[in-house]
Amino acid sequence: PVEQRVEDLLSRMTLEEKVLQLNQYTLGRNTNVNNIGEAVKEIPAEIGSLIYFDRTPNLRNHMQKKAVEESRLGIPVLFGYDAIHGFRTIYPISLGQACSWNPELVEQACAVSAQEARMSGVDWTFSPMIDVARDPRWGRVAEGYGEDPYTNGVFAAASVRGYQGDDLSAEDRIAACLKHYVGYGASEAGRDYVYTEISGQTLWDTYLLPYEMGVKAGAATLMSSFNDISGVPGSANHYIMTEVLKERWGHEGFIVSDWGAIEQLKNQGLAATKKEAAMRAFNAGLEMDMMSHAYDRHLQELVEEGKVSMAQIDESVRRVLRLKFRLGLFERPYTPLTTEKERFFRPQSRATAGELAAESMVLLKNANGVLPLTNVKKIAVVGPMAKNGWDLLGSWCGHGKDTDVEMLYNGLAAEFKDKAELRYAAGCKQDGDDRSGFAEAVEAARWSDVVVLCLGEKMTWSGENASRSTIALPTIQEALAVALKEAGKPIVLVLSNGRPLELNRLEPICDAMLEIWQPGINGARPTAGILSGRINPSGKLAITFPYSTGQIPIYYNRRKSGRGHQGFYKDITSDPLYPFGHGLSYTEFTYGAITPSVTTLKRGEKLTVEVVVTNTGSRDGMETVHWFIADPYCSITRPVKELKHFEKQDIKAGESKTFRFDIDPEHDLSFVNGDGKRFLESGEYHILVKDQKMKIELLN
Ligand code: IFM
Repeated sequence: PVEQRVEDLLSRMTLEEKVLQLNQYTLGRNTNVNNIGEAVKEIPAEIGSLIYFDRTPNLRNHMQKKAVEESRLGIPVLFGYDAIHGFRTIYPISLGQACSWNPELVEQACAVSAQEARMSGVDWTFSPMIDVARDPRWGRVAEGYGEDPYTNGVFAAASVRGYQGDDLSAEDRIAACLKHYVGYGASEAGRDYVYTEISGQTLWDTYLLPYEMGVKAGAATLMSSFNDISGVPGSANHYIMTEVLKERWGHEGFIVSDWGAIEQLKNQGLAATKKEAAMRAFNAGLEMDMMSHAYDRHLQELVEEGKVSMAQIDESVRRVLRLKFRLGLFERPYTPLTTEKERFFRPQSRATAGELAAESMVLLKNANGVLPLTNVKKIAVVGPMAKNGWDLLGSWCGHGKDTDVEMLYNGLAAEFKDKAELRYAAGCKQDGDDRSGFAEAVEAARWSDVVVLCLGEKMTWSGENASRSTIALPTIQEALAVALKEAGKPIVLVLSNGRPLELNRLEPICDAMLEIWQPGINGARPTAGILSGRINPSGKLAITFPYSTGQIPIYYNRRKSGRGHQGFYKDITSDPLYPFGHGLSYTEFTYGAITPSVTTLKRGEKLTVEVVVTNTGSRDGMETVHWFIADPYCSITRPVKELKHFEKQDIKAGESKTFRFDIDPEHDLSFVNGDGKRFLESGEYHILVKDQKMKIELLN
């Protein structure tokens, strides 16, 4: 019936009405709440979509009334918003979420975001961001799931399930949007919005894979990217948007441009005028214009001139209407009025935020078992992040507020109440060169048994248009650590940041290092819980921490080189400081040998590999097993290894658990060429888990 209703409506629409469905404006930016009539006055009743900046349903309903009652056909508006890692309940940044290796938990978090958003008047989120990112100078590395294509794909699918559920018309679900389609993460030198050079091979095996997985999971929409793919920007790229997405993958939803991206085709030298830009973008398969005012101004004229076909206008409008029907907007255009208390922070939301924060934290270093802090009586809590709520939210934090965030100091105070005395000193700010607070911090360190040093980045240092030329912390923060070292007490470094950091100078100074990312509203208790030992850390890095900025780009799945190594520097090591997958626990996991169901197999056959992991330490814990595949000889160069499967399980002290990977050679051993065609070659393959390698052979 949805299709019938779409066709019926479409058949009654004028060209002008159709064109307006393909545009997105904004609502609620700088709106005077006392005069909402004024806010909607300029917006045509027939508009397709609005980016909705308010967090109450009122303004939406006001605009929706205009659409439903004042437009000829009463087509409701679709309201979108960037709920990236939470709407009001803010979760860890996506990069941190990936380090949890727990897609079920991420799905739950997205379901909470969906509920809060939908009840606030938002039907559609511009999330998940699944751009494989290998240059941590790029600020948007915070928004995705790290450097690995498969990991991004798994979390894409989990997010889509969490946002959309089984029924988009449910009152607590929203439509997802995979972005930025495609290759935005390849921005040169980590600069935002700039040129990208992506070969067909890399496009397919690295950048498109997560999108294919997200589309398979049912993502309703995608957002096109600003960057180039073989010389043609994502927003004007017919191959990407039409041939691959719609013709090959059969996607039935629509693509929205990024903000102003159609207009920007002029700056990219692809169009001399906005009209030409509209023509190129639309004919390439981009259905909705976000804030370029290119489609509303020029599409009708382009149809009349025969430069854009009516059939394509119909097909694009069909896709937009289809989503509106699926969301149930025709039946329930208005959002019920509720109080903030009814919409936000349901018990489940805070609990999930705490669990996800705990599982995303990565214990990078723990020399001489300094952690957990079981026998300390005096703790110096030092650093600019200790009493800072705002920056823990991370970039793109929706309607999150700093007052929702528990600060690290407060979490530690609650955790160590009755166990240890705390003394606080900020020491310095996150940047600048005011060292006047150092003396007080050193004094607190001298007084203490242990220093918990809280360093990190401001939330504005990552996210869109927030690149950094170095991934080191500002000199002042490193200098504070050096000064504290003089006190001679163990230093536990707690890091909150939106990208991997250059830690080679801090690492020798600190006895332990815990990466907490920007953990959202509920990161303080998990941090304190890990420090006290109440929580056993289980996060592992989903992105490499380079030894220094000069190593960038550095990622685990590099292609093989002629000399069989990754190249050397005269001045520094070529190894990263902490590789992909690194993360310590308070217990120990011992891996048994990889056991395959067969070691040779014919085409069409499958195999299963298993590994038994035993918790040989004295604490219960969680372990993630990463299964990699390597193809030692192939007709193209392949990465040294590729992640194909992962699983996380609870393992009690003394207990053993079996981890299993069902390998389908057609899928797991094959590779794609530069046009996405899949090949499976006979011969030897390696299955890798931790430091083990097992050979199998695929017969002709
Ligand atoms: O969704 C975002 C996108 O990721 C970056 N530019 C603006 C869009 C809408 O806010």
